[in-house]
Amino acid sequence: MREATSDDFIVAAKLNSADFQRGGFSEDDSVIVAKWLQEAGCDFIEVSGGNYEQPRMIDFDRKDPLAASKRESTRRREAYFLDFVPKLRQAVSIPVMVTGGFRSVAAMVEAIELDGVDLIGLGRPMIIDPDVATKILSGRIERVESRDDDLVVGTGLLGPRSPISYLRDLNAWGALGWYYEHIYSIADGKKPDLNLSPFRALLSYDRTETRTAKAVIREPKPH
Ligand SMILES: Cc1cc2nc3c(=O)[nH]c(=O)nc-3n(C[C@H](O)[C@H](O)[C@H](O)COP(=O)(O)O)c2cc1C
Repeated sequence: MREATSDDFIVAAKLNSADFQRGGFSEDDSVIVAKWLQEAGCDFIEVSGGNYEQPRMIDFDRKDPLAASKRESTRRREAYFLDFVPKLRQAVSIPVMVTGGFRSVAAMVEAIELDGVDLIGLGRPMIIDPDVATKILSGRIERVESRDDDLVVGTGLLGPRSPISYLRDLNAWGALGWYYEHIYSIADGKKPDLNLSPFRALLSYDRTETRTAKAVIREPKPH
């Protein structure tokens, strides 16, 4: 049997446009890494941004100026990392995928036709409905189902725009926990409970993470 080579697989890298932290990874750094990835034979680059301290990839507190601005075009209002594409395009020739915020088919089409994006990435919509890509491509839906605004642990002072950063983080983790719980349900072949409260999801996610962390600690160390 012939041995598999890297030509048999698509190898892509998800790359932050920036991590939005002082002294952190900048767009210029990202361009340099993108060039390295192209030279190393990467087939395409997926552009996203943020990290678990600054989760811009899920725009949890609606702080992102692009996402907040209503005068922008549909695609700019939805997709948070589109502005970085021209800069990346100048640096690399491999296909570029953009992930983060796409909810309407119109915005996805505009990003491909007007911004030269090659691939559209969907995260949370795929968790809510794993068949969403088929539905988009067959023209059955104009908009993906989303829970972006509903997944809050509280409102006002307790909500995602709270002046208290701990409470903002709690909301972000409530939303992430909700999605994680759904991923686990799908993996177990169960129907996800779309009515699960973000607070209960947070508690359950916390229990799962604690269990996993303890199991890792118990794992015998390799000699
Ligand atoms: C539950 C959950 C887990 C995620 N885990 C990762 C991860 O491990 N690595 C990563 O690069 N992005 C991760 N993301 C970010 C997504 O891949 C995606 O960039 C983000 O959700 C924005 O796309 P969307 O608006 O289509 O959801 C995660 C998102 C969610 C909701």
